[in-house]
Amino acid sequence: MAFNKDSVAGTFLFTIVLCLLCSFMITGTAGVLKERKLAKQRNELMQNVLLAADIPSDNSNFKTLFSTRVTPMLVTLADGQTIPQDDLLDYDERMAAINPEHSSKIAKDTARIKTRANQIRIFRVHDAQGKLQSWVLPIYGKGLWSIIYGFIGLTPDLNTIEAVVFYEHGETPGIGDFISHQDWRQKWHGKQLFDADGKVALKIVKGGAKPGDLNGIDGVSGATRTGAGVQNMISFWFGDEGFAPLLNQLKTMEAAK
Ligand SMILES: Cc1cc2nc3c(=O)[nH]c(=O)nc-3n(C[C@H](O)[C@H](O)[C@H](O)COP(=O)(O)O)c2cc1C
Repeated sequence: MAFNKDSVAGTFLFTIVLCLLCSFMITGTAGVLKERKLAKQRNELMQNVLLAADIPSDNSNFKTLFSTRVTPMLVTLADGQTIPQDDLLDYDERMAAINPEHSSKIAKDTARIKTRANQIRIFRVHDAQGKLQSWVLPIYGKGLWSIIYGFIGLTPDLNTIEAVVFYEHGETPGIGDFISHQDWRQKWHGKQLFDADGKVALKIVKGGAKPGDLNGIDGVSGATRTGAGVQNMISFWFGDEGFAPLLNQLKTMEAAK
């Protein structure tokens, strides 16, 4: 007996086949898009790390520069120890920071992030001969409206700033978004994070830093609160609950080489 496509069973069969076809198409597209999103994230990560290390790159050479000059490392913040790990490009600190098994509550939360990952990915940047050129460390914290994410590059003295990059934030366009402008980023070059007593001294100065102030960076008037957020995140990340044990460990490690 021939199958009647205009019957109730025929309509059901058509609907089921159509649903299956659509779900396969959606699953396939989601898979492709996820892979593309991951590839985009990896590319942006490489470009941002190079920016923070003050290494000029463009679309044609950033992958080569990153693979030849940068070594990502996973470190435990509490003691600065390195954890051997093969592929670190997809490590997700943000997920780790909200997972109670992989994060710690912060006591003095100047960055206003509540918890931070126990293990953080950092980047050792070297010159063509393999000699240490800079360290790039992730920093983030609350601005006025949003969590601001960035990287900071330090010279081997672990005090002098090479460059910063703030690659993600939700501050107001035209007001708080000065943090991602090239002219403001340039003001960080050569500034010192710590004072002579080893205390975090970097300040975003309302009204502008005085000439010769090695710790002061010009604030932007009318956007003091975003600047204060940036200063507070630096205070947190370079304090005892942030990078302090790691910086000691890195100094010891490099001195022993
Ligand atoms: C709609 C709106 C958006 C604002 N966005 C920001 C911002 O993104 N960052 C910021 O620091 N201040 C922003 N402000 C201004 C702050 O509320 C505050 O007045 C300013 O940061 C104080 O800076 P001042 O002491 O230099 O005047 C915004 C104000 C308004 C009304």
